[in-house]
Amino acid sequence: MKDLVVYYSLEGNTQYIAEKIKEETGADLLRLIPKKAYPSKGFAKFFWGGKSAVMAEKPELEEFSVDLAPYDRIILGFPVWASTFAPPIRSFVEQYAPQLKNKRIITYACQGGAGAEKAFAKLSQTLGINKFEMTQVFINPKSDSNDHTEQKIADFCNKIKA
Ligand SMILES: Cc1cc2nc3c(=O)[nH]c(=O)nc-3n(C[C@H](O)[C@H](O)[C@H](O)COP(=O)(O)O)c2cc1C
Repeated sequence: MKDLVVYYSLEGNTQYIAEKIKEETGADLLRLIPKKAYPSKGFAKFFWGGKSAVMAEKPELEEFSVDLAPYDRIILGFPVWASTFAPPIRSFVEQYAPQLKNKRIITYACQGGAGAEKAFAKLSQTLGINKFEMTQVFINPKSDSNDHTEQKIADFCNKIKA
């Protein structure tokens, strides 16, 4: 089974999970980087990121090329922004829509409080699928790391491997 983790991370939490998945399962990683970086501090971070998410923007991404054909599953990882998935994921999903059509898709979300379930619903709608193979929610797994979260990460990786 060959898996690719496609993720966006502003502050490292989603990246932390992506790297654990790679470590534990051998999955490949593709980090999405917007050409114009979102602010990462203070009010501007929530204002510009939140606005971009609410407006369903598709920010231009730094050049990358990936062939999804060799992968059995795609694992989409994102931070929840304004109760939806962070916009760079939308850019990827739109660009790769035809290649994503027949893929098995797993998704995970990092959040501070709430909104992941809504984000999953919006993502499945955007992808045009009824159901993900698996979903998982983490609460700031890097910045608020604790034993419970580490166990949850390990369980998630084990399920991916199973
Ligand atoms: C613009 C913006 C909007 C956010 N909106 C939400 C939200 O609606 N619900 C929530 O629980 N957390 C929200 N957060 C917090 C992040 O989802 C959370 O800190 C996540 O772990 C960050 O992941 P990252 O470190 O990979 O960027 C928001 C953060 C930003 C920057």
